[in-house]
Parts: sequence; C-alpha cells; structure tokens
Amino acid sequence: MKLKSTTWKGRNRTRLFELRDAALSLGFRHPTIADIGAGGITFFLSGLHPEGPKEEMVRSQKVQRFLIRFADDIIRKFGLYGSLTVHEIREIKEALACLSPSEIVVVDKDPRLLRAIRDVGITQRLRLDICVSRLPEPKDIVICYNVIQVTEDPNRALENLLDSVADGGLLSLETNGSSIEVSDRRYKRLRPCLYRKIS
Ligand SMILES: C[S@@+](CC[C@H](N)C(=O)[O-])C[C@H]1O[C@@H](n2cnc3c(N)ncnc32)[C@H](O)[C@@H]1O
Repeated sequence: MKLKSTTWKGRNRTRLFELRDAALSLGFRHPTIADIGAGGITFFLSGLHPEGPKEEMVRSQKVQRFLIRFADDIIRKFGLYGSLTVHEIREIKEALACLSPSEIVVVDKDPRLLRAIRDVGITQRLRLDICVSRLPEPKDIVICYNVIQVTEDPNRALENLLDSVADGGLLSLETNGSSIEVSDRRYKRLRPCLYRKIS
C-alpha cells in the first residue's frame, strides 16, 4: 500500500497559533490533546522543502514545493522513502507547551506514520481509522489537518471526529479548501478553522 501523506515543516503554523491563543483565552490548563493524521515527509527531502503555510510562499517556493512533492510521491510509490520525518507533532508540542498538556495522543491509520514518531517523546500513539471509529475517549483539544477530505468516507470521518471532542473542548480543523462543513449544532465556530463543542 502506497504511503499517503504529504506534509512539511510549518504547514499548519497559523492554525496552531490560532488554537493556542483561543485555548489560552478560554483558560485551558493541562488539556488532553489528540492529533489525527500527523503526516510525514521523506527524511532526506524534508530539508529541501520550503517551510510555512502554503499561502505565505512566494512563487519560487511554490515551484520548489511542487518539485519536492513530485519527487516524494515517486519515492513513496516505489517504497524507497527509508525513514520519515514527522514535523507536526513537534510543532504541536512547542506551540501548546504553554497549556501544559496532560496527554498528547497521535492517531493515524497508517502504522508507518506511527512508527516514524517513536522518538519524539509522545505520551501515546493510537492506530485508528477515523472513518471507522471515534477516539475511545474524547479529548479536550482535537487537531485534524488535511485528513478528512482525503479519507474514503469524509462524512463518516467528520462524524467520528466531532464525537471525539470532549464537551467544552476545541476542534482545530483544516480541510484544505474542500466543501466539508461543520453544521453539527453541538459546535460553535470561533474562527474559520476552529470550533468549540458547547454541549
Ligand atoms: C495529507 S496527510 C496530512 C498531514 C498533516 N496533518 C498536514 O496537514 O500536512 C494525511 C494523514 O492522515 C492519515 N490518514 C488518512 N486517512 C486516515 C484515516 N481514515 N484515519 C486516520 N488517519 C488517516 C494519513 O496516514 C496521513 O498521516
């Protein structure tokens, strides 16, 4: 099975800062956190990929990004990626350190991604397909960037995701311009990609 995950350093920086600021102003302390679908990039290509959110990249960086992703895709197709670099977990830990999280769970359906984050000092790793089930225990903060729209059943995945957030908790959701909408009445939209579960 081809490894499907495309990510790079700083891709979701804006979302993470937005989440951190909201969590701080709402008084979150020692939250439980889950990151669903952290993604990875071939280790030796990682340093060549431009950093930061896509919309902040200048033209030359966009071309560079296209070329690196093209190379990464071919390498993955032939299973030659060797080791993967997972930036998202480290970035979450850094951005949300001020909340003193009590737990961070990394969730992915692909065991290769979970194996790649073994050394990052994470509390837990959980293999789970978000199209099939929700998290066994709801978390105070759930982060899900660029996953739902690439799953086999986005509607089911969204339903399970919404059921994975604790009451009063925050959901930071990025769907990369897809038409996926959170219309669940239990949720209040705080920012374009940030929701609070109100009951
Ligand atoms: C496109 S990458 C996104 C990576 C990163 N979050 C980002 O924004 O760049 C999708 C990630 O979600 C995982 N994934 C895809 N479908 C999934 C599912 N149904 N359940 C859980 N994880 C899934 C993939 O293995 C991969 O790690």
